[in-house]
Amino acid sequence: MDTVQDVRPESEREDYVRLFISAFHSSPNAICITSINNNIVAINKAGLKMFGYNEMELIGKDVTILQSKNNLPGLNEEITNSALKDGWEGELLNVRKNSEEFPVHLAKSAVKNDRGQVIAFIGISRDVSDERKMEAELRKAKEDSDNLLSALDKAYRNLKETQDELIRRERALAGGELSAHIAHEIRNPLSIIGMSIQYLESKFEPNDPRREFTDAIIKKVDRLDNITKELITFGRPLKFRMKRHNLKRLLSRILSLIKPRCKAQKITVVKDYCDELQDVLIDDGHMEEVFTNIITNALDVMSKGGKLTVRTELDEAQKKAVVRISNTGHGIPKKDMPNLFKPFFTTKKQGTGLGLAISHRIVTEHKGTILVESKARGRDKGTTFIIRLPA
Ligand SMILES: Nc1ncnc2c1ncn2[C@@H]1O[C@H](COP(=O)(O)OP(=O)(O)O)[C@@H](O)[C@H]1O
Ligand SMILES: [Mg+2]
Repeated sequence: MDTVQDVRPESEREDYVRLFISAFHSSPNAICITSINNNIVAINKAGLKMFGYNEMELIGKDVTILQSKNNLPGLNEEITNSALKDGWEGELLNVRKNSEEFPVHLAKSAVKNDRGQVIAFIGISRDVSDERKMEAELRKAKEDSDNLLSALDKAYRNLKETQDELIRRERALAGGELSAHIAHEIRNPLSIIGMSIQYLESKFEPNDPRREFTDAIIKKVDRLDNITKELITFGRPLKFRMKRHNLKRLLSRILSLIKPRCKAQKITVVKDYCDELQDVLIDDGHMEEVFTNIITNALDVMSKGGKLTVRTELDEAQKKAVVRISNTGHGIPKKDMPNLFKPFFTTKKQGTGLGLAISHRIVTEHKGTILVESKARGRDKGTTFIIRLPA
């Protein structure tokens, strides 16, 4: 610190000193002047008020009387050493006469005479307990709001999870699981009813009029059996056992099963199999279901006769086995096209609307595609389903 030469004339000295004393006591900060041995030489009014002493109690006392024992050891030496160099500024714990500890911000520096010798120290302190209290309160408020926010966040996540779970469950239940479960429950008693009716019918004479009723019941049981089978397939996760199978053989088997119905409906069946087509990797049970669904749908729209064409092709470029199943029935109206593969979409009085939804799922699981082309007007009305499977 540079020394300052007093340039005032002797006559003004006294006024000057009085001004300094007034300024010293008017300061809102505590100012304490200590000897080089750190004994208190002077302390201003703000200081006396802050520490709760009167002047006589402090003058001549070591400055550490104002410091808390809870400061880091050696702090006072550090402050003095720094004050001797460039001054020390920082925070420490002070203690009032009534033993109450409080934080202060202290700036302490050496006082030098005209010749640059250190003759005393001056310390200016400010009670920062209010600031610290406010900071602590702010920190606490922030902590509280952080806690609240994370609790809210957690609650929101829980809610979202519960909601997602509910939606998943509701969908699964509405879409399948529940229906599959019920269908499963129905199937056993249904097969008992079916067998009992068949047994009963076998006891009737061929021209027994009661056969009309047993026939009707058997048809209804068959229908219920189909519906429950579809519901179960739709509602449950599918399992696939992939093996190499010959599509021609698989399709022929299905076509031979529907022969009686085709005959009854006056439907001609055209088979056009591609010889180059190698066996394809499929789950034959599930793919049989797909072809049966599509062929049954075709038969449904040709109640007054028509032509059913089943064709296989090899798409060499794309390495795909292609199966085309066409019928000459009434086509599909444009407005229905986007809904065909949606579950429960049906235009039939007794339909389930699940056949194509299941078929779509199965073909997709085979990494294949299923497409529809249809014409609902003109002379060449009809529909073709095109299934493409990896060859
Ligand atoms: N070959 C077809 N010709 C005309 N319409 C068809 C054909 N195949 C399917 N559809 C239409 O798609 C609907 C859904 O078929 P599907 O999922 O098998 O259910 P369902 O046969 O129980 O109605 C049918 O109700 C029908 O309207
Ligand atoms: Mg169907």
